[in-house]
Amino acid sequence: MNNAVLNALSDQVLAAIRVRPGRFFPVEHLAKKFRCQKSDIVFVIDLLRQTGYDIRADRTGGYAFLSSPDLLLAAEIAHGLKTSFVGKTIYAYKSVQSTNGVAAQLAEVKAPDGSIVVAESQSHGRGRLGRIWFSKDQAGIYLSIILYPDIDPVKAPGLSVLTALALADTIAEYDALEVQIKWPNDCLVNGRKVAGILTELSAEVGRVHYVVIGVGINVNHHRRDFPPDIASTATSLRVEFKELIRRVELLQKFLVAFEKDYRRFLKGGLAPLRKRIIRYSFLLGKKVSLDQRGKTVVGTAVDIDDNGNLVLDTPEGLRPFNAGEVTVIKKH
Ligand code: BTN
Repeated sequence: MNNAVLNALSDQVLAAIRVRPGRFFPVEHLAKKFRCQKSDIVFVIDLLRQTGYDIRADRTGGYAFLSSPDLLLAAEIAHGLKTSFVGKTIYAYKSVQSTNGVAAQLAEVKAPDGSIVVAESQSHGRGRLGRIWFSKDQAGIYLSIILYPDIDPVKAPGLSVLTALALADTIAEYDALEVQIKWPNDCLVNGRKVAGILTELSAEVGRVHYVVIGVGINVNHHRRDFPPDIASTATSLRVEFKELIRRVELLQKFLVAFEKDYRRFLKGGLAPLRKRIIRYSFLLGKKVSLDQRGKTVVGTAVDIDDNGNLVLDTPEGLRPFNAGEVTVIKKH
């Protein structure tokens, strides 16, 4: 059997035995069901165990599924995922340079709408404004979603905002701790950053070819894991919630929330989501400085408009901004 056939068999055997956790399935039945040799079943069970699945064998040669590892494997993410198109095609890697980079290549060759790319680690995780996204192995979620929305590119900033909203809702499900969105793309818990979003697009005037929404979530990092330059501003869900979080479950919840909000966005733009966005907003009502390509504007953040722009009340009047680095000006 070649690798592709073995992988397919391993997915099928796993799906069959996990239907009834703890129940023993005789190896003969499995071999008959999948029209292969008993030795093939033994081989793929061994592979599954090496991957981290807890599978018990009995004396008569039966196998029982006990538990799965919290790894971002395609079979794990797909198992019980309640979306209709987001995450229905999964590209899962141990390590890549950047999931956004891989996703862009896949979008160029027309990967299905809603395909996702995930990795356990990234060697060159990309952040906004040319920064690096710290991507510790098996601690976070590094995800890119490929989409082909029929929207004007000017509406694209709204995609980052709706993604942040879906993330905030997902995180809020875990704990009633303070979750906030710092426009345009950061999710904060207790005032520190737990997740960031990098939306990249290929477009021409008036038409989007494809969008890659990159999402980095700090999930099970310890405080000591963060490098010094972000140690005082970054945090993880584990640090804040004081418990390990199942990444697969978190990812599935997020994909469901994202799909719902994305559909709403395609129908009615950000308008139907604005109330919820504003409720989570970290910036509204605060005096801020916004840095856009070296130019700094100071004003009070008063709104997030239907295009996802941050509206500042400045000495020149109300001004919308579609991008920029925002810093809160502290009162003395
Ligand atoms: C930011 O806050 O600066 C945005 C960070 C986005 C990071 C994610 S991790 C998955 C995806 N792949 C990347 O290279 N970047 C995004």
